[in-house]
Amino acid sequence: MSARRACIIGHPVAHSRSPLIHRFWLAEHRIEGDYTREDVPPEQLPDFLTNLAQRGYVGGNVTVPHKEAAYRLLARADETADALQAANTVWLEDGKLVGMNTDVHGFLANLDEAVPDWQVQPEQAVVLGAGGAARAAVHGLLERGLTRVVVVNRTPGRAEALAIQFGPRVTVATYDELPEWLHDADLLVNTTTLGMAGQPPLKIDLSPMQSSGIVCDIVYVPLETPLLAAARARGLRAVDGLGMLLHQAVPGFERWFGVRPRVTPELRAAVLADLAKGGK
Ligand code: ATR
Repeated sequence: MSARRACIIGHPVAHSRSPLIHRFWLAEHRIEGDYTREDVPPEQLPDFLTNLAQRGYVGGNVTVPHKEAAYRLLARADETADALQAANTVWLEDGKLVGMNTDVHGFLANLDEAVPDWQVQPEQAVVLGAGGAARAAVHGLLERGLTRVVVVNRTPGRAEALAIQFGPRVTVATYDELPEWLHDADLLVNTTTLGMAGQPPLKIDLSPMQSSGIVCDIVYVPLETPLLAAARARGLRAVDGLGMLLHQAVPGFERWFGVRPRVTPELRAAVLADLAKGGK
């Protein structure tokens, strides 16, 4: 069998750490294969995905801005991709393009790993942001049985769209109302780009949160965002975003290369070393 190849499809895609992650696992498992970057502009995505095999790929990851468009090109999708109407992992089955969404798995696996007991009694969460990452987080939290997820977003209409999509367990609130909701929140999740290198910090007051609260940021450049630093300073448990990136990669690797890889401290260190070299 010739070496299997997969790729990350995005636009732009130069910053993606997915090749580093998958090549780490390929080397670890001594698999002859490769994982490369493919910068594909939106107008070329249908042609690219339709001809994946001809391009020598067994599958790939799909990232910004292609997740929704890729989902629409699938012959079949898993339940999570159907729920989010977005796919981040694709492969070929009998010549047909099939896909899944592993962002929810990545989000939950990261929380499970960082705070193994987070599920003991969580009832309410506050999610900041209402884009694709917020949808993944809200879906995951509802799947794990939280009774209320409060979505707070700069543009209220996008938060309302999430409430319509996910139903009565989602409540929409404004930044002004945040203190009251934080008081009752077991978990706060930032899915906005605020706090990311080159962006303004996310300035919110964490003092209303209970001391048992957990603060999770999906930003991972920098790893320690101002939000997480503030959470630690208050004695709250803080969960960085790197684990989500690493865990979302696991199911795709298994699908393309036939081995379920593990997220290890060595992998995390390799990605962190690369991030330290600069760039997002
Ligand atoms: P993704 O799909 O990766 O989650 P996105 O759809 O661009 O990305 O969402 C980015 C989120 O960050 C949005 O919720 C955005 O708020 P708007 O919906 O109002 O645009 C939020 N965001 C970005 N910059 C922000 C800022 N300066 N203040 C508040 N929210 C911001």
